[in-house]
Amino acid sequence: MPNLPYMPSDQARPIKLNKFLIFCFIGGIISQMTAVNQIFAAPLAGITDRPFRRIVRMFSPNTPMYTEMISCHSLVGAHKNCLRNFDDYRAEPNTGAQIFGADANLMADAAKILQDAGASWIDINMGCPVPKVATRSGAGANLMRDHGLAEKIMRAVVRSVQIPVSIKTRLGWDDAHRDWADLINIATDCGVRFAALHGRTRAQLYTGKSELPVITDDIKIPIIGNGDIKTSDDVRRVLEQGYSGAMIGRGMLGQPWIFGVLTGVCDVPQNIGAIVLLHLEYMLEYYGEKNAIPMFRKHVAWYSAGMPNSADFRIRVNTITSAAELRMEICKFWGCEVNI
Ligand SMILES: Cc1cc2nc3c(=O)[nH]c(=O)nc-3n(C[C@H](O)[C@H](O)[C@H](O)COP(=O)(O)O)c2cc1C
Repeated sequence: MPNLPYMPSDQARPIKLNKFLIFCFIGGIISQMTAVNQIFAAPLAGITDRPFRRIVRMFSPNTPMYTEMISCHSLVGAHKNCLRNFDDYRAEPNTGAQIFGADANLMADAAKILQDAGASWIDINMGCPVPKVATRSGAGANLMRDHGLAEKIMRAVVRSVQIPVSIKTRLGWDDAHRDWADLINIATDCGVRFAALHGRTRAQLYTGKSELPVITDDIKIPIIGNGDIKTSDDVRRVLEQGYSGAMIGRGMLGQPWIFGVLTGVCDVPQNIGAIVLLHLEYMLEYYGEKNAIPMFRKHVAWYSAGMPNSADFRIRVNTITSAAELRMEICKFWGCEVNI
């Protein structure tokens, strides 16, 4: 929870009831996200779509989750080929919608659209290293080396919505520029309510070990630590370093129950085949058979990783193009029944 500034009593004015209620509501969202549910599910493009979020929430309904990154251009232009432009978050509590872009006005408009669609908070991507996003479009990780543009975007987005705004960033552009604390301080001045920090630079991409710095008192907003976190020991270590929460990305692949297990609300399920089937049904419902089947292959690979005969199973799955056949193959592999 961010510290509230002290106000001397002779300057204090009574707060209007409606402002007080909004204040309590937003404060409640943030404290619920950072104090109670300290483990966040990271945004993963191509993975944390609506079907995946439904599966995670089956095990841990309160896990704070991010959407995949959403282009402000695509969202504001209502591009039909991108289904997530039309997601409705009202039935998805604790979902932060992540936007990326380099145009402050478009980012503000995109934030408003997502607020109207029921997002719990807006996250600004300031860490994506992919050339198409960071170098060619000036968005994502580029904002770590253009603090002026980052500030303009954060101010515009914060001004445009009533829900909390967060950022997700990395340590810096490269080893010579590990200036994450400067960016976080600018974010704080802009009214950003919390930040997620991935313990790598843009230059590292996803290589090497994530190394999170200790959070000291000069950082005034809650920081969520991210990078190579997979176990309860990893989570504990991050919290001991002064982080307000931990964020898991690749650690949730093939084990969407990890948040439930780490927060003690469920055990590792016995009936994994039934979960794979349900995930497939959610994908079919959302994307349609033609698109869902190729997209689901990677999930099948993650769910089956390390199991006996999984290599042969994956080879078979990669040739399947019909939902009925895929269901049968999944049931054969996990020894479950098709109930659809
Ligand atoms: C396949 C993939 C997709 C990702 N997509 C996003 C994204 O859309 N937005 C974002 O801020 N970070 C994205 N990231 C970065 C992750 O959110 C996270 O910061 C990174 O994977 C480190 O955490 P981990 O070690 O727990 O995976 C992505 C990473 C991967 C591997």
